[in-house]
Amino acid sequence: MGIERVSWAIFLIWLSTFQGYLLLVNGGFNYKEALTKSLIFLEAQRSGKLPSNNRVPWRGDSGLDDGKLANVDLVGGYYDAGDNVKYGLPMAFTVTTLSWAAIFYEKELKDTKELEHVQDAIKWGTDYFLKACSRRKRLYVQVGDPVEDHECWIRPENMNTTRTVLKIDSKTPGSEIAAETSAAMSSSAIVFRRIDGAYSRRLLNKAKLLFHMAKSSKGTYDGECPFYCSFSGYNDEMMWAAAWLYLATQKSMYLKYLTEETISARITEFSWDLKYAGAQVLLSQLHFQGRDKLETFKNHADSFMCSVLPDSPYRQISLSPGGFVHLRDGANTQYATGTAFLFSVYSDLLSQHKQKLTCGDKEFSPKHLFDFAKSQIDYILGKNPENRSYMVGFGKNPPKQPHHRGASVPTLKKGEAVNCGMSFVYWCNKEEANPHELTGAIVGGPDRNDKFVDKRTASSYTEPCTYINSLAVGPLAKLASLHN
Ligand SMILES: *[C@@H]1O[C@H](CO)[C@@H](O)[C@H](O)[C@H]1NC(C)=O
Ligand SMILES: *[C@@H]1O[C@H](CO)[C@@H](O)[C@H](O)[C@H]1NC(C)=O
Repeated sequence: MGIERVSWAIFLIWLSTFQGYLLLVNGGFNYKEALTKSLIFLEAQRSGKLPSNNRVPWRGDSGLDDGKLANVDLVGGYYDAGDNVKYGLPMAFTVTTLSWAAIFYEKELKDTKELEHVQDAIKWGTDYFLKACSRRKRLYVQVGDPVEDHECWIRPENMNTTRTVLKIDSKTPGSEIAAETSAAMSSSAIVFRRIDGAYSRRLLNKAKLLFHMAKSSKGTYDGECPFYCSFSGYNDEMMWAAAWLYLATQKSMYLKYLTEETISARITEFSWDLKYAGAQVLLSQLHFQGRDKLETFKNHADSFMCSVLPDSPYRQISLSPGGFVHLRDGANTQYATGTAFLFSVYSDLLSQHKQKLTCGDKEFSPKHLFDFAKSQIDYILGKNPENRSYMVGFGKNPPKQPHHRGASVPTLKKGEAVNCGMSFVYWCNKEEANPHELTGAIVGGPDRNDKFVDKRTASSYTEPCTYINSLAVGPLAKLASLHN
């Protein structure tokens, strides 16, 4: 072996070790790819007439008669998860959290060339909400009959189930849905302000009306039960909606509402049902910018962080042995992506204002908070005891059997008759990979012992949800712009 070849070999060894080291410090993940894919999943959840730039080749138009049973146009919007029902509450939460990511991580999303995809994902929801609240003092909150839908394992393009339409109004109140939809409209109004002023004003106008509606006839709606019952009531959504309206309008009436009428609670969960922690982090931003009256909310945000951080003396939340946030089985990853989002935002706020987090006798740097957010995302992408990815079509050994009708039923002919009874035998209970890859979907994930079952029928492990992904967009954008 000549001398040059030896040094070349040493150089190659050095290079591969060095690259290995780089991979280790970065967690070894292509965050930009994960970010791109997480947004492609939302395109797979679209209902209605799909635009030609839809990036999921196996998806087609569906739900084109939605709303007809009530003589309204309710075509569009999103299916929430693996079935074909359009639920207003989680759909609105998906849009609000996407808007928050688009506002707070605008620069990171621009850097990674994903801002427009996030805006498109938001608009797919807000175009639908504009239809759903086109009549005064009324909001359509659901299309589809969950019982009938759950008795038929069929892709949305071929569904032939009753598309029942549900609404709230002064006689049938639903303050949590009206308020969450208001939050979706005011947060997205901020997103579109500089892109399309007229559209943004329309959204903000509806946001105000919906908030008023939520406030003037208070009550919890049980029409989305047992699937999306607001177990926590509407106080959290009222606070969240008022916070977003205050951010969007700067009007003192919303500040007054927040400081005089809001009930703020210390809760360690951020999810489609519980928004206290989100509102507290959002209002902390305004407190840092000088609104003294909002100090309570900042204190509550601190206490959220202290009750979740693993090495905090006040930790309450349960983590799996592998270090993953685990609150309950079934779409559990939403609690991890939600936590990651809030930790990521709060760490940036603390760092911008040169502050630290104090939990009893311990102090934590903003970087420490961000590292915890990153640990949750890395776990999902493959750094976990099972050494597998929980994002479909990403990384090592990703799920092959997501619990999802669209992805698990092969493309059928238009109008082809389907036997609902047999549909489970043909397509659901089969021990085979889905015929279509549900790219970018983060599934429900492992149990409290880090164990995972990749079976379509085990929905608590394998079902994806739009809000699991929407909550991951912010931290993924930040990680992608830092590392790629
Ligand atoms: C995952 O990888 C680690 C480190 O390489 C190894 O010790 C562990 O046994 C692996 N776990 C499984 C379930 O394969
Ligand atoms: C749809 O359902 C109706 C009523 O149950 C039935 O008459 C019709 O044949 C079905 N169409 C298809 C394409 O399955």
